[in-house]
Amino acid sequence: GAPVEADVSKLEPGALLRVKWRGKPVWVVHRTPEMLEALASNDPKLVDPGSEVPQQPEYCQNPTRSIKPEYLVAIGICTHLGCSPTYRPEFAPEDLGADWKGGFHCPCHGSRFDLAARVFKGVPAPTNLVIPKHAYLNDTTILIG
Ligand code: FES
Repeated sequence: GAPVEADVSKLEPGALLRVKWRGKPVWVVHRTPEMLEALASNDPKLVDPGSEVPQQPEYCQNPTRSIKPEYLVAIGICTHLGCSPTYRPEFAPEDLGADWKGGFHCPCHGSRFDLAARVFKGVPAPTNLVIPKHAYLNDTTILIG
């Protein structure tokens, strides 16, 4: 499929934009400084904190899994059986874990991902979510694919 453009000029901090690419949901999240800070503290709770499994382009194998720290671009499909996780930017109720700092929750079998789309330990999804190939055409336009 052809690449698609995502315009993030009106995407508020903390908000998520959905675009479709090759029939798949792609998320763009405008992460706040607080969200970025929370990422570091997740390390011991994650299956692959350093993104060693190549679920992202090389230029996104970094602590935020992104080109610009403030924008996460990820394919919104659970790596377990393919459901689409829901965006849970806020602290979630106790039953999702007291250590939850926000991210994505899969409604099908309970997998959790942080705001860099990295999978938490103890859930069925085996790997981090996929980060698609993308590039910035200008400050606020991302070309996905
Ligand atoms: Fe997401 Fe099973 S499909 S946890």
